[in-house]
Amino acid sequence: MTSPIPSELVDTLRSANRVVVLTGAGVSAESGVPTFRDAQTGLWSQYSPEELATPRAFRQNPKLVWEWYQWRRELVSKAKPNPAHYALVEMQELFPEFTLITQNVDGLHRLPGSNIIIELHGNIHRTKCFQEGTIVESWKDTGDVPPKCPDCGGWLRPDVVWFEEPLPEAELESAMKASRKADVFFSIGTSGLVYPAASLPHEALNHNATLVEINPAPTPLTPKADFMLKGPAGVILPELVKALRK
Ligand code: OAD
Repeated sequence: MTSPIPSELVDTLRSANRVVVLTGAGVSAESGVPTFRDAQTGLWSQYSPEELATPRAFRQNPKLVWEWYQWRRELVSKAKPNPAHYALVEMQELFPEFTLITQNVDGLHRLPGSNIIIELHGNIHRTKCFQEGTIVESWKDTGDVPPKCPDCGGWLRPDVVWFEEPLPEAELESAMKASRKADVFFSIGTSGLVYPAASLPHEALNHNATLVEINPAPTPLTPKADFMLKGPAGVILPELVKALRK
């Protein structure tokens, strides 16, 4: 059962100047990209995050980690944006200020017409040097797995944030700043378990924002939400845009 769009929310949004949206893996679920924590199909169901998504894991088994990301990169390359991604592009037109912050590394929010997106956890399509942290655009295929940095010969890795690593400073600061100024803050398709991203809705709440959650399942944030729109983002967001355009 999908929640109908409450008219109080439509009224609140019509008078909102600054709207901030935080998205998580649930927004890509309808594009066929698995979420992280679903017990059966989630990306972490076979391996624990510590085995694959930490600098330690990469040092211990670089081949396994590189190949796992290679598999994810291929999966994501085949995925297409879904109605939730398109509705978010439409939403940016409806408010004087609109900031889209994502934890997703799949790049699916980068659609024609999208404004700046804050990618908090990096982007799986980018590669960087594990040693020096520099972005590497291309390298020679020498058969090494992972491939080697053309400059220093160190291992290459995906430019995503792993557990135990800090978030990119500029992105986190912009996200914090926008969240503190938000009139309305949307938390969409995220379990709200991974910090510091999960602290953004709390920052917004502490600065008197209206909090809206869109998720088929409750999360630790749900008791704090002013509006919980229960259901898939690909259904709810287009409905919301329709209600706002009426
Ligand atoms: P999770 O897998 O933890 O949570 C996905 C959320 O999406 C859950 O709350 C689901 O109920 C919800 N969901 C599922 N299908 C949905 C749909 N169609 N529409 C809306 N919501 C839906 O993913 P994240 O919260 O994104 O970090 O995980 C946060 C971070 O943890 C990720 O960025 C990643 C991961 O470990 C790193 O890799 C550093």
